[in-house]
Amino acid sequence: MGLRRPLSIVLLTSTIVSFATWAEPSAESFQRCAACHLATGEGIYGAFPPIKGRMASIAASAEGRIYLVAVVNSGLMGPITVGETPHMGIMPAQGSIYAAAGISDALNHAVQVIDAENLESDWTPFNATEVQRILDDGPSKNGQETAKLRQQLLEKYPNLQ
Ligand code: HEC
Repeated sequence: MGLRRPLSIVLLTSTIVSFATWAEPSAESFQRCAACHLATGEGIYGAFPPIKGRMASIAASAEGRIYLVAVVNSGLMGPITVGETPHMGIMPAQGSIYAAAGISDALNHAVQVIDAENLESDWTPFNATEVQRILDDGPSKNGQETAKLRQQLLEKYPNLQ
């Protein structure tokens, strides 16, 4: 009996700590994104695609994570189709503004806050080390290359359309 209490305290503490580590991406890092995708991530029909409702499922695969880092770092140049809606937009590269930590923070906000309702219990947040490793691999130099990554991603995971 005497052993139970310390154990439950340890479990409780670790639950709080692990919750806290993925509960705090700053809204500030998402401010630039919100200029186009809106603070809610719902976008503007036909101009800026919605990212709400999509981020958690894209971030669930290794290829999706690479794609998301590439979009923010190198931009995206369509045409793309999101759901049923065609987009011919250009997302400018944000890599000169965000370092790896900033990309990680903005993406965590987009997944955990904007797309909170689709968050899986096994969600692993981005961190600067993962983002830097992806950047070092050089997945995309520009918006057209990112569009190719998107095409490959959708071929493998058609439900992400
Ligand atoms: C100047 C406007 C602008 C800003 C700033 C911007 N985006 Fe975008 N974003 C776009 C446009 C436009 C597209 C679609 C491009 C196309 O049609 O090919 C897009 C596409 C995306 C996609 C791809 C969605 C999909 O379905 O594949 C993601 C993810 C994304 N943006 C996230 C972000 C994040 C995160 C930020 C902030 C770090 C950001 N965007 C900043 C305009 C912007």
